[in-house]
Amino acid sequence: MAWLRVVDALKAEVGTKVTVKGWIRTRRDSKAEGGLSFLNVHDGTCFDPIQVVCPGSLSNYASEISKLTTHCSVECDGTIVATPKGGKEISADPANGGAVRVIGWVDDPDHYPIQPKQHTMEFLRENAHLRVRTNTFGAVARIRHTLSMAMHRFYHERGFFYVHTPIITASDCEGAGQMFRVSTLDLMRPLPRVAPEQESAEAKKLREEFSKKPNMPAWTYGQVDHCKDFFGKEAHLTVSGQLNVETYCTALSRVYTFGPTFRAENSNTSRHLAEFWMIEPEIAFADLQADSELAEDFIKYLINACLTERADDMKFFDERIEKGLLTRLGHVLNTPFRRLPYTEAIKILEKAIAGGKKFEYPVKWGIDLQSEHERFLTEEHFKQPVILMNYPKQIKAFYMRLNPPGTDGAPGDTVAAMDVLVPGVGEIIGGSQREERLDVLDARITEMGLPIKEYWWYRDLRRYGTVPHAGFGLGFERAMMFITGMGNVRDVIPFPRTPGSAEF
Ligand code: 4AD
Ligand code: MG
Repeated sequence: MAWLRVVDALKAEVGTKVTVKGWIRTRRDSKAEGGLSFLNVHDGTCFDPIQVVCPGSLSNYASEISKLTTHCSVECDGTIVATPKGGKEISADPANGGAVRVIGWVDDPDHYPIQPKQHTMEFLRENAHLRVRTNTFGAVARIRHTLSMAMHRFYHERGFFYVHTPIITASDCEGAGQMFRVSTLDLMRPLPRVAPEQESAEAKKLREEFSKKPNMPAWTYGQVDHCKDFFGKEAHLTVSGQLNVETYCTALSRVYTFGPTFRAENSNTSRHLAEFWMIEPEIAFADLQADSELAEDFIKYLINACLTERADDMKFFDERIEKGLLTRLGHVLNTPFRRLPYTEAIKILEKAIAGGKKFEYPVKWGIDLQSEHERFLTEEHFKQPVILMNYPKQIKAFYMRLNPPGTDGAPGDTVAAMDVLVPGVGEIIGGSQREERLDVLDARITEMGLPIKEYWWYRDLRRYGTVPHAGFGLGFERAMMFITGMGNVRDVIPFPRTPGSAEF
């Protein structure tokens, strides 16, 4: 008997002898004399389980099969037969060599957390080590895989090179200061509170002793000196691989990075994680227009990949998670994204307010758009993905290219930034054309009070053969939400990290 995955067994010819290995989803017993049970066996290879028909003539029917419960693991030998509805199932009749072997029992089945019934998402988060055993989380896991593979394929097919950017970094890419520290120093020891000349002899002795220990920071009055730290300077977990990937872009032309990124923003929302994955392409000899075209093609490619490769899971999301999901995604595939200058967006929002629309945050040119504004634009006003472009420079990162004055009739300076907003999620992509002119970049770094010395290697890219270039970052979990209709970012990553929560 050939061992087939459930996905293949469901497609095997009637009459084929097969073995399947997996876990029981449900067991149903018929009242037939002598015993007859139906096992739904799944192995995660597709959405559907396969039914294994077990007659009472199996030698272990009374002792084992009739006692199987959800998630017991089994090996089943049998013959593929057609079901009245046109599907396939396995007959485990021992007269034709059928057998069911129990591999692992479930302890205390009444208290097994993942019973075959509807659980709340909150309950499943508390059981994140077991939740992938449910239909929903099995489907999420398969889509996550499909989406990652599609991302690599999209760039590979277009001649991009995959670059592994570091996770530990000494520079703050977004300049927003929301970083997790990486240190081997024992920072638990309180810093001296008094100036050295006011220190008591006893405190001085203690301080000097501690300073001799290998993991103690060198104490200077009021601040930690990181020269004794592992890297000899302050280091953090990266918030974005962009600055590093730009170095490769200015030699390989088209590159991307895909990895985990970390942000210590204390926002407990359904769209923010402290650890999330981001895919960041970077293209040389390109402007914001080319960047936005790449972003649009990319999102459409990803939707298409999930629809064609995982039709079974997508059908489930459409029926059980977000009614109308497939129609929504079909609409996104078939319409060009709306491109809209920030300055125009503000006018639209102001007009909506004049017409009676209420927002929590006031709107005026120069504000950082809040999620309520973004969602109004994409969900209510345009009802389609929107690429907002050319934001006020004050609210964007230092590396974004300064636009000529008066771009889009803006009342202040703007930068060549873009955010892609999608219905249901809001911002899914953030990107920009990069400032390739050294003098303008330096002025921006200085103006924003960033430590210009730390950016010496980034500035070198502008000194040696600079070129216009652009890129963006797609939040992988936001893309997952958009494509599956799942409502909380904590439910599209296996083990979510959020403020106050790092279990598992
Ligand atoms: O807009 P962001 O901050 O852009 C950057 O980091 C750029 N350096 C990217 C680049 O140009 N190479 O983040 C990019 C995307 C956001 O649009 C959002 O989808 C996602 O990353 N994101 C988060 N996703 C989950 N949890 C968080 N805390 C996120 N912060 C950003
Ligand atoms: Mg952003």
